[in-house]
Amino acid sequence: MSKIVRIAIVGPMLLVLLLMSVTGAAKFKVGLSMATLAEERWKVDRDLFKAEIEKLGGEVIVAAANGDENLQNSQAENLITQGVDVLVVIAQNGETASAIVNSAHKSKVPVIAYDRLIKNCDLDLYVSFDSVKVGELMAEYVCRLRPSGNYFIINGSPTDNNAHLVRQGFYNVLKKYPKIKVVFEQWCDSWSPEKALKHVENGLTQFKNDVQVILCANDGTCGGAVQALAEQKLAGKVLTTGQDAELAACKRIVAGTQAVTIYKPIKKLALAAAKATAELAAGKTPSEINEKVNNGRSDVPSIMLMPIQVDKNNMREVIVADGYHTEEEIYGK
Ligand code: BGC
Repeated sequence: MSKIVRIAIVGPMLLVLLLMSVTGAAKFKVGLSMATLAEERWKVDRDLFKAEIEKLGGEVIVAAANGDENLQNSQAENLITQGVDVLVVIAQNGETASAIVNSAHKSKVPVIAYDRLIKNCDLDLYVSFDSVKVGELMAEYVCRLRPSGNYFIINGSPTDNNAHLVRQGFYNVLKKYPKIKVVFEQWCDSWSPEKALKHVENGLTQFKNDVQVILCANDGTCGGAVQALAEQKLAGKVLTTGQDAELAACKRIVAGTQAVTIYKPIKKLALAAAKATAELAAGKTPSEINEKVNNGRSDVPSIMLMPIQVDKNNMREVIVADGYHTEEEIYGK
């Protein structure tokens, strides 16, 4: 190679390195592959995670798949091609997303399953809330108040492992109440509130409005259920549940049309995931692992966090005090 050619190649490279040190370019690159941004919480997850990674010296490239598992898989491939050091995945489909993990590993990129477990693959880390506990907390709340009668169950997305865990939590509690009858149970693809609305309309017709409780797997589906109840002037009479402490749900709780929500402090999740991401990027083992969760292939090192039951009595002390929503947002004025 001639001297001139070498200068022509090395020169610009040095310039880039110089610019990177002057502008404080990122020390590591992270891909965040999100199933959806539909529910209010996911924007919070994204923003907190991104800000924390930047604080730790990294950068985040985000791709959101609009509830389309095929799109998510190709977006994830694209992130791997862009040379990310760690891939963080919120899976639309906990089974088929194993292809993402396998592909990332071929490029020596570790993968973190964020909030939703990815099954049957060698996952590097799982960071989430205990979703069985989420279901138990919802069911415990309403079963104590209505220990007998007809119950409907509106589950989340059948392709999301969390929906199955929440359901397991429901039944862990329901089995202690022999006078409760689950007369109607349905699943909502992509946790769709519209599907929940239709299901509850059908259930109410089928059971001639004779229902005491509707266990809904999250606040979004609860919104659909409450709309169906309102059409029959039953909102507030039939107890309903949810998770996420969405603003609309907090307002329903104050108004009395939703009994309880399960709050999962997103900040804790996003910060724990960001810290673990930085550790993996540096080739270290994440320091906050506190559990192992089996995903069908292996015991995945996990960071598990605890959810909190919220009703109208502890709304201020949990949701407002934590800065998740303000007093004004929830109560108006
Ligand atoms: C999350 C819930 C969320 C639902 C719908 C689940 O995996 O754990 O917080 O409401 O997905 O996005």
